[in-house]
Amino acid sequence: MKHCISWQHPPSHLDLCASAVDVWKVHIDDDQTDEPDLHDLSDSERDRASRFRFAVDRRRFVKSHSALRAILATYIGASPRALVFGQAVHGKPFLVAPRQAQKLRYNLSHSGDLALIAISVGREVGIDLERNRPMEDLSGVVNRFFSTAEREALARVAAKDREQAFLSTWVLKEAYLKASGEGLLRSLDAFDVTIAEDEPRLLEVRDRVGDASRWSLRRLRPRDDFVAALAVAGDGWQLRQWVWAGSSQPR
Ligand SMILES: CC(C)(COP(=O)(O)OP(=O)(O)OC[C@H]1O[C@@H](n2cnc3c(N)ncnc32)[C@H](O)[C@@H]1OP(=O)(O)O)[C@@H](O)C(=O)NCCC(=O)NCCS
Repeated sequence: MKHCISWQHPPSHLDLCASAVDVWKVHIDDDQTDEPDLHDLSDSERDRASRFRFAVDRRRFVKSHSALRAILATYIGASPRALVFGQAVHGKPFLVAPRQAQKLRYNLSHSGDLALIAISVGREVGIDLERNRPMEDLSGVVNRFFSTAEREALARVAAKDREQAFLSTWVLKEAYLKASGEGLLRSLDAFDVTIAEDEPRLLEVRDRVGDASRWSLRRLRPRDDFVAALAVAGDGWQLRQWVWAGSSQPR
């Protein structure tokens, strides 16, 4: 499958126009001696952080949310601490303040030591990231979650490639559900996406008539051991992929 756009270090000044969608790759280092800095986080983020059972999960949460704030802040020239988030009815977070941040749309996904953040101006976005892993009961999971058309298409994929095709389809489906804001509250078999095609798309959306032409999908390859996908409202946008280099990022 083609993933031809490379991941770049961002220029010192970054403008985002309505025809671009930025995706940031954040490597979350797992240095266990380093207690992450809670300085930029809100009370509710600190509260969530304190409720993780395992230190590794707490560190990853804090680091991904600190990076999220720092990255979003670069677009509006604000302090990361000044950002205020709200939650839509099914939990999708969005920016409430400062006022110039309200035009930004974003979505976050994290898995293991990696996080991806999609950002746009005015276009709803959804992103999903999964680490490649052997699936214990692939056909059971496919039968449970995939639509009939997807199951049939997946059965036509060579057996050696099927696990990878499953995961890269799964992230497409989740990215779309995250873009719509309902996540897994919506049924995964109520819509079909293409399987194992370079240019993925929604084929039919039975529970939201018209959605198939309302959203565009892209596969992402942030690292060899991960698959990821992006869903964006509308078409005619260009993808830019940036690597987050930490809090010393130029503003
Ligand atoms: C959102 C959801 C798809 C996350 O999937 P996941 O693969 O476990 O996790 P990801 O790392 O890809 O995404 C998590 C991030 O998505 C964002 N998110 C949360 N809810 C979301 C939603 N409804 N739609 C889109 N994005 C959402 C958050 O930024 C979250 O990061 P955080 O937990 O660090 O704050 C899953 O939790 C879900 O479907 N939830 C259904 C909605 C729900 O249960 N709402 C109940 C509250 S009303």
